[in-house]
Amino acid sequence: MTAKIIDGKKIAKIIREEIKQQVSDLFQKTGAKPGLAVVLVGERKDSQVYVREKKKQTVALGMNSFDAILPDTISEEDLMAYVQKYNSNPNIDGILVQLPLPKHINEQRVLDGISETKDVDGFSPLAIGKLAMKGREAMFSACTPLGCIELLDRSGVSIEGKHAVVLGRSNIVGLPVSMLLLHRNATVTIAHSRTKNIGDVVSQADIVIAAIGKANFVQGEWLKKGATVLDVGINAVNDKTKKKGYRLVGDVDFESAKKALGPNGLITPVPGGLGPMTIAMLMKNTLTSFQRKMG
Ligand code: GUN
Repeated sequence: MTAKIIDGKKIAKIIREEIKQQVSDLFQKTGAKPGLAVVLVGERKDSQVYVREKKKQTVALGMNSFDAILPDTISEEDLMAYVQKYNSNPNIDGILVQLPLPKHINEQRVLDGISETKDVDGFSPLAIGKLAMKGREAMFSACTPLGCIELLDRSGVSIEGKHAVVLGRSNIVGLPVSMLLLHRNATVTIAHSRTKNIGDVVSQADIVIAAIGKANFVQGEWLKKGATVLDVGINAVNDKTKKKGYRLVGDVDFESAKKALGPNGLITPVPGGLGPMTIAMLMKNTLTSFQRKMG
């Protein structure tokens, strides 16, 4: 028997339905709706797809969608002016600047410019800094890390006392998810590209979060039977049998992992795992921001 699949698509749909209901209830009470502003600079195809999906879901959940689709020649000053305008617009509860930004723009400066109360991506140093501190609550945590915790909770996986091995130390996933797991009383090991004997480290894990950005990196033979594996990776690999010429795979070698984990193991697929959860968490953060504003 192989591991059970955690269906991120299905769980994200349930969460979206919950949010939609809450948005509708709040609208009945207040006559107001949450608003999310999305800023896209340039014409990267992947970013266009993400932004389109975020806007679509914002509207589908009954919220107001604002956007700025800007040329990649825009100056940092002009981009900052958009952020400032959204900061001071009372109808906007969340601001998301899609990354990466063109090279001539200082990404950190732009992220620093987003008001803490509207930073629904949780990418600012203030958000990550507070997340790192005991007893300080960040206004928002980053969406993929939140999605990981939510998937564990909704799949009945307890976190407290477990050994979680996080592969990757990025500001967007590895670092914040490690801190969230720590706040939930897991024992956390952060492994990365320079870690020695990484397979041995992974073999100790009850929970594996793979966010290292390498296709099929985690091998089934590394995994402990009965462990839970969340695969955050999205990697395109050449596949001539597909219309687009490629297919998406995660950071985990899915087939060997599924076998090695055994019947008590759990694993997320790619696609259909963390991807839909990330957007659902963005919607949840936007709703939370609106609720805070309305008091
Ligand atoms: N680029 C890739 N993923 C993300 C994300 O979650 N948020 C933003 N703002 N940019 C991204």
